[in-house]
Amino acid sequence: MNNFELYNPTRIVFGEGKIIELDRLIPKDAKVLILFGGESARKSGTLDEVEQALGNREIGLFGGIEANPRYETLIKAVTKIQKEGYDYLLAVGGGSVIDGTKFVAAAVNFEGDSWDILTSGGKKITSALPFGTVLTLPATGSEMNKGSVITREETHSKRAFQHDSVYPQFSILDPVKTFTLPPRQISNGVVDAFVHTMEQYLTYPANAPVQDVFAEGLLRTLIDIGPKALANPQDYDIRASLMWTATLALNGLIGAGVPQDWSTHMLGHEITALYNLDHAQTLAIVLPAMLLEKLPQKQAKLAQYAEQVWGIREGSEKEKALRAIELTRQFFETMEVKTYFHDYNLNQEVIEPLIESLAKNGMTQLGEHQDITLDVSRRVYTAAL
Ligand code: NZQ
Ligand code: ZN
Repeated sequence: MNNFELYNPTRIVFGEGKIIELDRLIPKDAKVLILFGGESARKSGTLDEVEQALGNREIGLFGGIEANPRYETLIKAVTKIQKEGYDYLLAVGGGSVIDGTKFVAAAVNFEGDSWDILTSGGKKITSALPFGTVLTLPATGSEMNKGSVITREETHSKRAFQHDSVYPQFSILDPVKTFTLPPRQISNGVVDAFVHTMEQYLTYPANAPVQDVFAEGLLRTLIDIGPKALANPQDYDIRASLMWTATLALNGLIGAGVPQDWSTHMLGHEITALYNLDHAQTLAIVLPAMLLEKLPQKQAKLAQYAEQVWGIREGSEKEKALRAIELTRQFFETMEVKTYFHDYNLNQEVIEPLIESLAKNGMTQLGEHQDITLDVSRRVYTAAL
């Protein structure tokens, strides 16, 4: 096991009806800006419930944060806060609204050009406004981590940052709030959580058995409940499991002390930035091709994954590994997320722009061995055509 430091200050308040707890969780004298996305939070009644729970506090609203939140939009929230003087933020939505709120929280008191928050990966952040979240879409884990991914429309850049000051102070996870999600977002959420787990697990054996068992448990749970969550949109227990599984998949726990490989996410971000596919769609395209490309380096862990997650007992290590990759692809397809570029009407012509974009963003040495160069990425994209 590698050395590690684990810090996670986010309080999770889980269960039906828990929005009412906002009154206890946010200081009484706070002036609160509520940030949300398009129409879903208002239509579902969640926004009304939030406003009611905040009681007599002074509040403001900032809506319109899009999926794959845009820098250009978020800057308007920063200006509003500077003008109107809010001292607490509340994100109501999915990963995009939460990521957007993290950026806004860090940008309000940032000296200089706030895009540097992204180009420095968060290193230049010195402070952030306090904020909490009400999660409406289980997928990203943003509700309990310090990461955020922001898109700059002007340059088609999708970049990530991390900082300890952007852990949410609390996140309210009410599974009932997911009942209104369209099937496509449930599919996306399951695939995203699955790939988060894989990118912290599927590297090489590192003498970290408890991290492995946690990760394998999350993967098995997603394989079990994913299709059920699609088939039974109002089943509380299934939605509750999905919500908690997605949070655990990216809150730091399973990644502590183990090698990680975020190459699928990095290659996927470029696809969203240039061709606007949903985040999870990009992961479903890249992951199977990436696992095949890295078979020699990942074979031992793939065989473990085959045995522990898919119950494959027969065959050589390589045969088990190949079968597990195929089953992974089939699982994404069962979740109705397609796994090839051509399924999204994208062809050979996308490859070089994607490679150029990776190069521009410095994504030239990815993976647990830092050996995924642009040539390797080109092979992965090409194998996924
Ligand atoms: O905008 P509204 O109308 O609210 O609709 C949203 C949005 O269109 C809708 N939605 C959310 N909750 C709903 C609902 N519709 C009905 N009922 C509800 N309860 O769902 C759509 C997608 O929402 P979004 O927040 O974009 O989805 P998700 O949570 O999958 O977030 C994706 C973003 O997170 C980033 C991705 O790159 C992407 O930008 N990620 C963030 C990570 C992190 N911070 O740790 C890690 C991830 O790997 C990921 O990169
Ligand atoms: Zn993701």
